[in-house]
Amino acid sequence: MLHLSNLTMQYQGRDGGTVQVLNIPEFSLAAGEQVALIGESGQGKTTLLHLIAGILTPTSGKIELAGVILNNLSEAARDRFRAEKIGYIFQSFHLLPGFTAQENLELGIMFAGRGGGPARAKGLLQQVGLAERLHFYPRELSAGQQQRVGIARALANQPVLVLADEPTSALDAGNRETALQLMIDLCREQNAALLVVTHDRAVAARFPRVVELKDINQL
Ligand SMILES: Nc1ncnc2c1ncn2[C@@H]1O[C@H](COP(=O)(O)OP(=O)(O)O)[C@@H](O)[C@H]1O
Ligand SMILES: [Mg+2]
Repeated sequence: MLHLSNLTMQYQGRDGGTVQVLNIPEFSLAAGEQVALIGESGQGKTTLLHLIAGILTPTSGKIELAGVILNNLSEAARDRFRAEKIGYIFQSFHLLPGFTAQENLELGIMFAGRGGGPARAKGLLQQVGLAERLHFYPRELSAGQQQRVGIARALANQPVLVLADEPTSALDAGNRETALQLMIDLCREQNAALLVVTHDRAVAARFPRVVELKDINQL
């Protein structure tokens, strides 16, 4: 379902040289698979998720997702593909501050060109326990509630893949457990694959497959 081959990423260094962050000969995820990718800070976890989401373009190599080779798409087509196929959960939630919880989901559904937004948004917010908070703005929600909106939003377009970048680092222990369980259960229910990157071994231990970034990254 997701297949990376000979993927490399270099950034421009300050001295005009380049810094190689990733060199991944091969990495795959099956449809519906749930995987934790573990790595220390600075090892390239966020870079890898941005590459898979088509937010960044690799220096070389191939990214294939749901039968489409991302490298071959124009930037506009990649934006569209991301909106339709990928859900993204951020460490710091990244909700749109001027919009309510329900509107945050509806906007994502509209951007993917789909109808039925209000009903689907409500249904998902209900599933994450926010039926009473549909019309609250992000600033009126606790951190745990904001991340539950983030999780619902990630699933709004029935993605084939959900990417989560340290999704529980900004939460306390109780909210961390709730958020993790919701991600795991909702992705399973909707048959979305789930790739969670984390530096937290307790989080990784909740997943059937745990991959160490340093084991797939041949720098
Ligand atoms: N835009 C950029 N320009 C130059 N170097 C970058 C840029 N973004 C990230 N890096 C470097 O790439 C490495 C990996 O960063 P990142 O993917 O954010 O790691 P992680 O998410 O594992 O903490 C770090 O050394 C970081 O400094
Ligand atoms: Mg990071």
